[in-house]
Amino acid sequence: MAIRNIRITGDELLRKKSRPVTEVNDRIKDILNDMSETMYAADGVGLAAPQVGILRRLVVIDIGDGLVKLVNPEIVESEGSEVSTEACLSVPDMMGDVTRPVKVRVKAQDENGNELDITAEGLYKKALCHEIDHLDGILYTDRAVNMRRQDSEASEEEKEEE
Ligand code: NI
Repeated sequence: MAIRNIRITGDELLRKKSRPVTEVNDRIKDILNDMSETMYAADGVGLAAPQVGILRRLVVIDIGDGLVKLVNPEIVESEGSEVSTEACLSVPDMMGDVTRPVKVRVKAQDENGNELDITAEGLYKKALCHEIDHLDGILYTDRAVNMRRQDSEASEEEKEEE
């Protein structure tokens, strides 16, 4: 496993669409492991492959309930709408308010090729939406209002980085 460099906004690779994974082989498993290590080293709750320079549809998330590795994640249903604060490891020191669904259903595969069917709300939902956006070259800053520096808010403000 290795910690990889996280691409920062302005890097055009972050704006490209990632390709689906056709076979979860050892190389894909290695990438998922590197992404996990990179996410933990950066104190993030989620990371998408383009953030480490790899244009494949791979996401890792750990909102504190354990590590989830997703291959080809796709939002298949969503309901409602709510605003919450987001930040991103690729947009250092900033935060903003983003409107997302209240609840999403995501289909994906795990690293063993098993089909996953996930229903999520709250922080998990937010991380799923944010990371899947990365796979399509979308940054939360494209959707955010009230962009501001993280240090402009009191310390109790949540600052999960994705
Ligand atoms: Ni992000």
